[in-house]
Amino acid sequence: MAGKDSFKEFKEHSVAEFFKKNRQMLGFSSRVRSLTTAVHEYVSNALDACEEAAILPEVSVQVDRLGDDHYLLRVRDNGPGIPPEIVPKVFGKLLAGTKFHRMIPTRGQQGIGAAGVTMFAQMTTGKPVHVRTSRGDGVIWEMDVMIDVKRNEPIVKNRRSYEGDWRGTEVTAEMKEVTYNRSKYSAYEYVRRTAIANPHAQITLTEPDGKRTVWYRTSFEPVHMAKEGKPHPLGITVDDLITLAHHVTKSRRVSSMLKNELEAFGDRAVKELEKLVGRAVLEKNPADLQWHEAEKIVAALKQMKFRSPSTDVLVSIGAEQIKKSLRANLKPRYVATVTRKPKVYSGGIPFLVEVGVAMDGEVKGFELVRYANRAPLLFEQGACAITQAVQSVDWKRYGISSLEESNTVIFVNVVSTHIPYVSAGKQAIADVPEVVSEIRHALMEAGRRIKEYTSKVSQLKELLAKKRILDHYLPELSTALARILDKNPEEVRAVLSQALEERYRRLRELEEKIGAGAEG
Ligand SMILES: Nc1ncnc2c1ncn2[C@@H]1O[C@H](COP(=O)(O)OP(=O)(O)OP(=O)(O)O)[C@@H](O)[C@H]1O
Ligand SMILES: [Mg+2]
Repeated sequence: MAGKDSFKEFKEHSVAEFFKKNRQMLGFSSRVRSLTTAVHEYVSNALDACEEAAILPEVSVQVDRLGDDHYLLRVRDNGPGIPPEIVPKVFGKLLAGTKFHRMIPTRGQQGIGAAGVTMFAQMTTGKPVHVRTSRGDGVIWEMDVMIDVKRNEPIVKNRRSYEGDWRGTEVTAEMKEVTYNRSKYSAYEYVRRTAIANPHAQITLTEPDGKRTVWYRTSFEPVHMAKEGKPHPLGITVDDLITLAHHVTKSRRVSSMLKNELEAFGDRAVKELEKLVGRAVLEKNPADLQWHEAEKIVAALKQMKFRSPSTDVLVSIGAEQIKKSLRANLKPRYVATVTRKPKVYSGGIPFLVEVGVAMDGEVKGFELVRYANRAPLLFEQGACAITQAVQSVDWKRYGISSLEESNTVIFVNVVSTHIPYVSAGKQAIADVPEVVSEIRHALMEAGRRIKEYTSKVSQLKELLAKKRILDHYLPELSTALARILDKNPEEVRAVLSQALEERYRRLRELEEKIGAGAEG
């Protein structure tokens, strides 16, 4: 029997200890994936930061090989910089961030990313990450940051500042148990896909062999994320409500907290809620709100009616920009793009879907490129709502008999203030019915445009086949006709050719139509 003694080993663990043991949950699993994860965390932070400050991003990623499975990663941006007193928390404390409780469609949302890389770097090399940052105020700060895993608190060393004219952030992390290549799960692929979905960013990648690739911007409009919404009462979970009450709100009563922190929640809603949950709970200090009380409130909210959440916080890439970017990056023969109107899932979380389909030209083979708030999702393709939606569409109806055998890139970006990820690794979107259905509709809308192209292509194929047959028999036909008519074969051939030219003109017209200008 397990007596009291078996609890001698009972200990509390910090969140850092938990993730140290379960690093795969953060995406630090295989050698290739671990490096890609680190690149993802730094690059998405860089882009998020630039967009919040409406800066046109310039991000440079450098990967150096130090030895077998041993690499140095450096990511630099021209963003707003990080205040020196905040740097330790950003890179040395898990679950600390500015995006956690904000209704804003940033790439990051958990406050784990940057510190997660620090943890991985120190676990595999025993070394801190090095941070250099400036807010453009003439002072540059540098420091080394590690995590005290037991307490989930930062340890800072070599902190110094000096004068310098620069603005941005540069992080350098040394890692082992990682490797670099150009496979479809690689950092290269990650950066390439990032560039496609972020036409306003200039991204440079320097690979271990010194090869430098620059993805130039095709859009000069900065993306601005400043607009921030509040959580909608129908989208809030018990856990959200507890966090709001215990860590976020400055209100002194639950009722005023709900009014201040939630969207579309006014005095009328307070009165209605009071009838459902009683006055006592609403009068409480938010700090004292208990789990079962929050549960009761959330259940009551679901019975109430609210105006739909505002969707103007959602920042899409836009059909035009997607088209430009796919053309520049993939050089396809045909592109169709669709940006759908915003919708709501789980009753209160706004989202929208945009889709691009690029076909033929330099596109070889089939590829699905998935994004959440413009950040590429490379892993766990099978578990993702986007994959499910793509598979659910009957592509034959749109003239593609087999997607796998076609030369097609399908681009899908899901934009939301809260992407429903399957796990903390943020690589797959959960199969929330509203989201799957919306992606499916976007794909079918694109499909209907594709149909025009694919049917022209098959018409062209048919005509070309006929032309080939006619061309093939032309010499014999001319000779035979010449004999019957007792004419010169060359003359007959010229007359026949001219007659056929008329028909070929249609062919060329069709070819032109499908050519460079084709888009839907
Ligand atoms: N390059 C950067 N420039 C400016 N601020 C940054 C930069 N990198 C990180 N930050 C700040 O540090 C915070 C923590 O970053 P971190 O990646 O840990 O979490 P997050 O991006 O909020 O969420 P997620 O865990 O989903 O990535 C961010 O919220 C942001 O405020
Ligand atoms: Mg992040």
